[in-house]
Amino acid sequence: MRTSHSIAAALAAGFGLACAECGASSSFLYVTSYPPEGAVGKVTTLKLGDTGLESIGASEACGPYPSWLTQAGDILYCVDEAWPSPNGSVTSLKVGSDGLLTKLSSLPTLGGPVSTIVYGDGGRGLAVADYSGAGIQTFNIADPAAIAALQTEAFAVPADKRPSPQDQSRPHQALLDPTGDFLVFPDLGADLLRVFKVDKATLQYSESTPLEFDRGTGPRHAAFYTTESKTFLYIINELQNSVTGFAVAYNDDKTLGFQQVYNATTHGGTDPVPAGTAAAEIAISPDKKFLTLSSRLERSLTYTVANGTQVPSDPLITFSIDGETGVLTHVQTAPAGGVNPRHFSFNKDGSRVAVGLQADGRVVVFERDTATGKLGKTVAEADVPGMPNFVLFKE
Ligand SMILES: *[C@@H]1O[C@H](CO)[C@@H](O)[C@H](O)[C@H]1NC(C)=O
Ligand SMILES: *[C@@H]1O[C@H](CO)[C@@H](O)[C@H](O)[C@H]1NC(C)=O
Ligand SMILES: *[C@@H]1O[C@H](CO)[C@@H](O)[C@H](O)[C@H]1NC(C)=O
Repeated sequence: MRTSHSIAAALAAGFGLACAECGASSSFLYVTSYPPEGAVGKVTTLKLGDTGLESIGASEACGPYPSWLTQAGDILYCVDEAWPSPNGSVTSLKVGSDGLLTKLSSLPTLGGPVSTIVYGDGGRGLAVADYSGAGIQTFNIADPAAIAALQTEAFAVPADKRPSPQDQSRPHQALLDPTGDFLVFPDLGADLLRVFKVDKATLQYSESTPLEFDRGTGPRHAAFYTTESKTFLYIINELQNSVTGFAVAYNDDKTLGFQQVYNATTHGGTDPVPAGTAAAEIAISPDKKFLTLSSRLERSLTYTVANGTQVPSDPLITFSIDGETGVLTHVQTAPAGGVNPRHFSFNKDGSRVAVGLQADGRVVVFERDTATGKLGKTVAEADVPGMPNFVLFKE
């Protein structure tokens, strides 16, 4: 028989509800990492509690190069980028009430997948962006313990073939628009936002008109932002180190319209970005008032680690969003906690931000002021073996 405690713990783990009996500020964070030399990468469970951030376990079930997690209830979908072997994989992992992961099911993918999104009626579909495989794939996840392949599509080499990474199509993220009717994929290699109309019932998709960028832009990741009457899309461009905002129009039931409303460097306006910089992640805060992005390999700031040593740091840069026009205004440039913040995420109420510092083997959790959008002091940090490239709160 389940005690009320175990039900509360299961609810807290599965649905992110507050759990008084689990400790006031305790939550789990899930981190994927590329492997240290000669080892395999892992999905690490970190527990954030009164004593700080500690690793309570690590799973090798995702394969050697885990690089992304998507949460659906008490299941995490993980992708193995499988560098440099041809086929990666998508794996479903069940989160136990103790925070540890158990492998349910796994299938090979086209090449090196880097991002997934749940779509379709009842969340029965999983769409995958495959960076090295130059394509996209969809899977039926109605039963997470029996993932089944649906559609696979590999894109042609762009007509204007350029040096790597623009020598081929490179879908870098899978996103679902706010209506759930369209899947979109920023393609860093082909300078496109690829758009697909979804049949929510059958999980099938069909190609729609893409949004084209100037050659050399390198769209990497994106974030939708909605107000009561408007939809905007912000795209972070890795090669150009810029952010472009669009007002999204639902022209008819098969295509999306995009009208540019904002374009600037990742530092805002025409503020220069240091040479060698590679823009990475972009996210809208849970309160929908701010946009934060990460910029890699700048080493333009410093961060003081727990032992008191000052280390070089890249920035997390925050902007406020004008909900009428979609225009961004710079709010803060803050240390990300080290070098190569490939990914960061907000907790549910936006009072914290967790960052994966891929070059430093560190995960840092910062306080965040939900009124100003500014990052504050460090809540906790932890060393994670290898190169942590993704971090997700599960409260
Ligand atoms: C494995 O990789 C090869 C080469 O990219 C590809 O042709 C094949 O379709 C992939 N297998 C699966 C199951 O996607
Ligand atoms: C957008 O801004 C970037 C950075 O200033 C600039 O290089 C690029 O030409 C602009 N693109 C458009 C389409 O305005
Ligand atoms: C302090 O931490 C940094 C970063 O983890 C590490 O490189 C350095 O060796 C540490 N210094 C001491 C004195 O422990």
